[in-house]
Amino acid sequence: SWNSESVIDEQVARIREQVGSARVISALSGGVDSAVSTALVHRAIGDQLTAVFVDHGLLRKGEREQVENDYVASTGVRLVTVDAADTFLGHLAGITDPETKRKTIGREFIRAFEQAQRDLVAEAKAEGEPVKFLVQGTLYPDVVESGGGAGTANIKSHHNVGGLPDDLDFDLIEPLRTLFKDEVREIGRELGLPEAIVGRQPFPGPGLGIRIIGEVTRERLEILRDADAIARAELTAAGLDGEIWQCPVVLLADVRSVGVQGDGRTYGHPVVLRPVSSEDAMTADWTRLPYDVLARISNRITNEVAEINRVTLDVTSKPPATIEWE
Ligand code: XMP
Repeated sequence: SWNSESVIDEQVARIREQVGSARVISALSGGVDSAVSTALVHRAIGDQLTAVFVDHGLLRKGEREQVENDYVASTGVRLVTVDAADTFLGHLAGITDPETKRKTIGREFIRAFEQAQRDLVAEAKAEGEPVKFLVQGTLYPDVVESGGGAGTANIKSHHNVGGLPDDLDFDLIEPLRTLFKDEVREIGRELGLPEAIVGRQPFPGPGLGIRIIGEVTRERLEILRDADAIARAELTAAGLDGEIWQCPVVLLADVRSVGVQGDGRTYGHPVVLRPVSSEDAMTADWTRLPYDVLARISNRITNEVAEINRVTLDVTSKPPATIEWE
């Protein structure tokens, strides 16, 4: 029978044996898989591991702090944060096509990570130890999907932390390779990780960049970040996190509509709420959220986010629509 403590013990022993005294690098994304695989490796080898977190400027409100403060406090992981928001925004300027956004974000992510990696390799070398390993949060379904061939048509190119350069001379440590998501969450809890990370709903690697329909700019990211934080807070307060798979908030940045506030006419942007229920994201239904929760989200967003004067609800299932708008 399955038991998270024995999985942890087994993996810790295996990782120690595999690594010896070498150094190890891991990429944290803020998501469950990289958080748990990194924590497991840290449990095994402590400061022989360095975790790298790339802040691409497309994160949700509080996400960086969650990693830098809460995650580090609960694990003791040695963390390097790469401040890459300016670089990413520079490269995203003028881009509106969803796949071009994904490719750009994926490419810049690899660049930012490689730079951090080079620094760590040099530092370790100076200390007389090679960096030999890279941690990856590959789960059992990922293994099956990439080996199985069949899978689904590639409708959207995904850039997860998993998609790191393969031309590098590292061996992989993949301590979650035999596990399913719910087992990974259980291990994360057993390792004492913050519930906000362990229980996190899916969030795409390209982040808010694919939830701004139109060009991604700093101002638009600020607007969307605020609206998204309100929607998430209200859904959590209403106890609905367990019922929804995820609820993207999408900014229709190139659309404006007329509104009225106080004595004034406004000409602001709409956001779309996209609450979905799903088992595996392959298919999804729109979640029938209670009207009073929708009303609270709408009132708060239009009151608190000056540039937004309209909140709409997406009532389309997948298929025919995808979960994300891009
Ligand atoms: P779609 O929009 O294809 O999304 O119905 C299915 C699931 O995948 C997530 N998603 C992504 N995840 N990189 C990711 O890591 C991506 O580029 C990406 N695009 C979509 C989406 O949030 C949903 O959970």
